[in-house]
Amino acid sequence: MSNQLDVRLRLVASFVRPGSVVADIGTDHAYLPVQLVSAGICPGAYACDLREGPLQNATQTVRAAGLSDKIQTVLSDGLDALPPGCADDVIFAGMGGILIAELLSRAAWLENPDVRVIAQPMSHAEDVRLWLFQNGFTIDDEAAVFDRHHGYVVLAAHYTGENTAVTPAMPYGGTLFGKSDPAAKRLLSLQLQRLKKRRDALQNAQSDPDETARLCAVIDDFERRMQV
Ligand SMILES: C[S@@+](CC[C@H](N)C(=O)[O-])C[C@H]1O[C@@H](n2cnc3c(N)ncnc32)[C@H](O)[C@@H]1O
Repeated sequence: MSNQLDVRLRLVASFVRPGSVVADIGTDHAYLPVQLVSAGICPGAYACDLREGPLQNATQTVRAAGLSDKIQTVLSDGLDALPPGCADDVIFAGMGGILIAELLSRAAWLENPDVRVIAQPMSHAEDVRLWLFQNGFTIDDEAAVFDRHHGYVVLAAHYTGENTAVTPAMPYGGTLFGKSDPAAKRLLSLQLQRLKKRRDALQNAQSDPDETARLCAVIDDFERRMQV
């Protein structure tokens, strides 16, 4: 796919199913939908943003690419202003995981096995995974990438109607556990370091025994899963 996308967005694009109409939520400049449509991966797209400024950026990018007939820009809080069922693949990239989980919880039409949810949380990926596990979605695959020492995870999920039984570490590593590629292993190691730092800080402060115990359980499970 194109060099016009950075490494992170190229990874997101690789999760889009060829032939699908995409909705890019929080699109900002609409680089991703423009690239997907101009490369012929997607026949059409919705480029959505909460704010006027980013949406104007999106409209300019779409116009400059000559794709106004194929990409609709939509001012929308999450999926609120989109017609239900309008897209096959729905992308949430470059936003925090807590916000992504909240937007997912408001979009009932994603509860369709044919719709793919693609998420690239900039933080709190565990909140996205946990929401998916507890709300009838299955995570089909994940991948990690590093760009200038910053690690990113992208995941794809679809609705099955069945919740997933969750062990303590699963929200923190998802299907990255068991992957052998260096980026996945590096991202998991960084996550483990963060968890240990938080546990150590809590232990030193002796402030929240319940959270400390929870983190200890997460770390035990995490280390076990990383060894498999
Ligand atoms: C950092 S940019 C990410 C742009 C692009 N998706 C990417 O990954 O490079 C985040 C965008 O999400 C938009 N945003 C924030 N909250 C939103 C919401 N509730 N609904 C839709 N868009 C939102 C912001 O206005 C901003 O343009």
